[in-house]
Amino acid sequence: MSPGSGRLRETRPMQLGHGQTAVVTGAASGIGLALTQRFAAAGMNVVLADVETGALERAAAEVGAAGGSGDVVARVVDVRHAGEVDALAAAVIERFGAVHVMCNNAGVAGGGDAWFGPINTWEWTIGVNLYGVIHGVRAFLPHLLASGGHLVNTASMAGLYPGLSPTYDATKHAVVALTENLFRQMQMIGAPIGVSCLCPGWVRTKIFEAERNFPEDLGALEHSPTFEMMRPVVERVIAEGVTPAAVADLVADAIEARRFWVFTGQEWLDLAMRRWTSIADGLDPLPDSAPGMPSADEIVAMITGSTSN
Ligand SMILES: NC(=O)c1ccc[n+]([C@@H]2O[C@H](COP(=O)([O-])OP(=O)(O)OC[C@H]3O[C@@H](n4cnc5c(N)ncnc54)[C@H](O)[C@@H]3O)[C@@H](O)[C@H]2O)c1
Repeated sequence: MSPGSGRLRETRPMQLGHGQTAVVTGAASGIGLALTQRFAAAGMNVVLADVETGALERAAAEVGAAGGSGDVVARVVDVRHAGEVDALAAAVIERFGAVHVMCNNAGVAGGGDAWFGPINTWEWTIGVNLYGVIHGVRAFLPHLLASGGHLVNTASMAGLYPGLSPTYDATKHAVVALTENLFRQMQMIGAPIGVSCLCPGWVRTKIFEAERNFPEDLGALEHSPTFEMMRPVVERVIAEGVTPAAVADLVADAIEARRFWVFTGQEWLDLAMRRWTSIADGLDPLPDSAPGMPSADEIVAMITGSTSN
């Protein structure tokens, strides 16, 4: 194997189409909704899973009205709970007999204070972003192995560059790590399955309104002092981000080519590369900021300006 060729064994390319079934978590909005629309347009049956009931019903109706040749199913699922994700897998198998594509996509980003606020900001973010993915992999892997299907885990560029939020970045690093491990292990045993890791930069979605789904069982979320101050900046970069539909096309291409990494922008990769170069040079973490965001000095000036008022 040549250096960097990446693959121990080749997994056969996959053609998305009628007769296949795709399951997407976090399907009521943003990237998840775009993925289901993309799969439905390819003629697949689609199963939309989400915790937000009203949005889920509207999303399923929208996908159904688009008139793909497959079936559309919606199911309320809180991916934090293994039992609910296991039940989702069982229901999909009972209805369709097989799963060909599974996207562990549900995710949240909140304004809780990681160090001085209640621990529930960690519990929520880890519960959805990390345990949600773990539950999805464990529940669906046997079915994907049976069908020779494809698994997509939604991480983030925050999984390759820790500079946005301690809670969010920690979960996304974990998703990258577990997905890369899974890929290697499947390759080593020659399993007939594809694995992709989606690492978007900014995407035009409702991710910054994720607290609409903060679970009652975790009490109340307390915002960090800087959250409201940063809100307009983050809302702007998200509004300027790529469209969910463009991300869905990249994911569909990666599935069909059985490609592992799915990226949405070079500037984020440049940022991650600068980080790794500084690590290899033994330097302390850089005060670099994410694309579109103010510099570290500007953020400090915003914080000190707002606290001195
Ligand atoms: N928008 C971005 O800029 C961006 C960038 C990188 C990665 N991502 C990731 O993309 C994924 C999709 O997010 P999005 O940007 O489309 O945001 P979004 O808020 O538009 O969609 C997220 C969906 O996840 C659902 N969800 C939340 N908690 C859930 C739970 N416990 N169980 C089931 N569903 C739940 C929400 O109801 C929502 O429908 C997330 O994993 C997010 O971290 C987003």
